[in-house]
Amino acid sequence: MRIAVTGGAGFIGSHVVEAYLRAGHEVVVVDNLSTGRREHVPAGAAFVLMDVCDRALVEVLADYRIEVVNHHAAQIAVSVSVEDPLRDAQHNVLGSLNVYEAARRAGVRRVILASSGGTIYGEQQVFPASEEHPLQPLAPYGVAKLAAEQYLLCYSRLYGIEAVVLRYTNVYGPRQNPHGEAGVVAIFAERLLRGEQPVIYGDGEQKRDYVYVGDIAEANLCALRPQARGIYHCSSGVELSVNALLELLQQVVGVRTRPRFAPPRLGEVRRSVCSSARIERELGWRARTPLPEGLVHTVAAFRNAQR
Ligand SMILES: NC(=O)c1ccc[n+]([C@@H]2O[C@H](COP(=O)([O-])OP(=O)(O)OC[C@H]3O[C@@H](n4cnc5c(N)ncnc54)[C@H](O)[C@@H]3O)[C@@H](O)[C@H]2O)c1
Repeated sequence: MRIAVTGGAGFIGSHVVEAYLRAGHEVVVVDNLSTGRREHVPAGAAFVLMDVCDRALVEVLADYRIEVVNHHAAQIAVSVSVEDPLRDAQHNVLGSLNVYEAARRAGVRRVILASSGGTIYGEQQVFPASEEHPLQPLAPYGVAKLAAEQYLLCYSRLYGIEAVVLRYTNVYGPRQNPHGEAGVVAIFAERLLRGEQPVIYGDGEQKRDYVYVGDIAEANLCALRPQARGIYHCSSGVELSVNALLELLQQVVGVRTRPRFAPPRLGEVRRSVCSSARIERELGWRARTPLPEGLVHTVAAFRNAQR
């Protein structure tokens, strides 16, 4: 298949591109390099430097005769969305809508959207959440992801575009940006390896569901299957506190440091964990990488990058 991956120079997108190339697909990456890096784009993929808000995107999709758009480009920090919700909506709502409009006009058959199981529900009422859990996002980032989902499902009803939404929980792994405001595993790993003190926002008892990026790349392969349609969680179904995560990471890195505690950040939920029963039943996907193993791979990659 000919596939365009927006955000393919970023953390998750670059792993998705690798998986698609390995499976024999042709890939074009569209990325504005705002947080992504050119050197993360795997060899073998074409690269177009472009913002997803650019109306010329339709020409790129048409020129490359794209069949599937995999949309990963986004502003990813919850805290940025709270401080500057207009900027967040510009990228994540209007940018996504421009992607769908370009896809429709270029005759694209399927659009896959990277959405967020960790933010779209707000404070969960049921643990783990299913895809039918009530949607009450706490932060503008979650509202924007919900809008991006709804526009895509609307385009599916209006124009017959095949829509696949993958709601990830907390993704971690090699190439995650340790200098951003999202990605606690990358931030902690970098700090521990540098001998710096990690910072925990709040009491550290907030719980998250961590899923390895290699498993997420596999889920994006499953999303190409003919029968894939609608909304799927991509999660481990296991919840872990930030304090416990730091403990595990310290064991992997081989250091002991006391964290510094800072005030909790606005818009962050207390407890997030999602069930992946639907994607397992329908597409045979589940998170296969146990957290300790994923952390070992991640720390090794960060060690190498620091050399
Ligand atoms: N990391 C997670 O835990 C997680 C969880 C749920 C959902 N997601 C979603 O997965 C996707 C990828 O996230 P990531 O963690 O790899 O982040 P990332 O910042 O590494 O990747 C985002 C990529 O998109 C590019 N980009 C951003 N805005 C753009 C724009 N307007 N036009 C073109 N390119 C643009 C960036 O340069 C970067 O390469 C995002 O949609 C994010 O919301 C991530």
